[in-house]
Amino acid sequence: MSRATIPKERTHTIKEALLAPKSTTVVLMGWVESKSSIGGIKFALLRDGTGYVQLACKKDRVPPKAFDDFENAGKETAVVVAGTVVEDRRAPGGKEVSVDNFAILAPAEKWPITKSAARASSSFLYDNRHLAIRGRKTSAVLRIRANVIYATFDYFVKNGFTLISAPTIVQNAVEGGSTLFELDYFGRKAYLSQSAQLYEEAAIAAFGKVFIFQPAFRAEKSKTSKHLTEFWMIEAEQAFAGQESNIRLQEGLVRAMAERVQKDCSEELRTLERKFKFPEIPFPRISYDEAREISAKNGVSFGWGEDLPTEGEKLISKQFDVPFFITGYPLSARSFYHMTEAFNDKVTRSADLIAPEGYGEIATGGQRIHDYNMLMERIKKQELPTESFDWYLDLRKYGMPEHSGFGIGVERVTRWMCGLKHIRAASLFPRTISRIKP
Ligand code: 4AD
Ligand code: MG
Repeated sequence: MSRATIPKERTHTIKEALLAPKSTTVVLMGWVESKSSIGGIKFALLRDGTGYVQLACKKDRVPPKAFDDFENAGKETAVVVAGTVVEDRRAPGGKEVSVDNFAILAPAEKWPITKSAARASSSFLYDNRHLAIRGRKTSAVLRIRANVIYATFDYFVKNGFTLISAPTIVQNAVEGGSTLFELDYFGRKAYLSQSAQLYEEAAIAAFGKVFIFQPAFRAEKSKTSKHLTEFWMIEAEQAFAGQESNIRLQEGLVRAMAERVQKDCSEELRTLERKFKFPEIPFPRISYDEAREISAKNGVSFGWGEDLPTEGEKLISKQFDVPFFITGYPLSARSFYHMTEAFNDKVTRSADLIAPEGYGEIATGGQRIHDYNMLMERIKKQELPTESFDWYLDLRKYGMPEHSGFGIGVERVTRWMCGLKHIRAASLFPRTISRIKP
């Protein structure tokens, strides 16, 4: 049945239209993904962010203006369509919408994102990221990233953690001075925050268990496939908890993330042709010393006390098919706040969580020093400016119990789950050493 005027509001999303019984009349709005024609019938694939549906348009069934618009709607044109859901086993999804009326809402110029343009320049897709994000694969990755975050909020709320927010303009280096972005704060030196951990440590005395989800900044000078200069970090901190419960908390979180993504993003994983093995609890653990041995056996040696070189971490990670912990890092490879073992003050109560298949570190966590004198001594030994840590030290004067926490990078987790070569693909508008636009 042809309609003379086209409604201004949509009645269904594409996802809803595909679930509707046949003969349902619908008004959809979306973007034209592609066009084709077979015989006298014109087809368009419509996308609206909830899914894709095929539109079939026959000249003798629609007003002449609608047919013209259908013919003129190129890729990425925003359109409105009134139509009827019909079953068609040849259509993707088994259903299509037979067009009764159609209009262009916003025209599109010739779409510049083409395979040949992408092939001609390695930076093309990221120079045009504002357009390229509409692609099926990119949106699948970003939807998986969203579900990693939804799972995080569910998990922490269910487990009694309170969400806090911390400043991102700070005076303290949490993770060492070499990756700090410095800024002029009305004539004083300030930095973009590397981690909210120190503020979380203050907040646990108010809430017991806290978590945050906010950007962190690292002036990473090296070009790698796992470093962004701005990324989103999930961090958690618990009072009255040592490193063992910290490890269990991380296992629970990563399992919850994986569960959510495998359950709610099966379509997206299929689009990415990605399968990852479900991480059952407990995750495997190896010690720092074992990690050194595995690395050396595979040709990458490093001295005791040094941080794992990227290459070493990668080849250890390739030995596993689920995330695993590397425990007991030397203090010399860790930041100042780490609690050391009673049996050896050169070894910290800390661990890195490593994603398998070569993806590498996704989280770092550990137990913190809760004793005032011990922390003061550590700050002095490492020649850190005591004045900017005065408030952090102060916390140790007023009932600071044993406590621990961790930070996990959202884009690192997404990269592993989606099987991405480079971490930038896990970010809507990535920031790297060479990119601050778009
Ligand atoms: O290992 P990091 O540096 O640990 C901390 O910042 C601790 N203060 C966290 C804590 O205990 N509350 O960073 C934590 C995680 C890393 O494991 C990684 O997943 C991510 O943050 N990360 C990065 N992700 C992308 N690009 C970078 N440059 C990153 N640096 C760290
Ligand atoms: Mg780390």
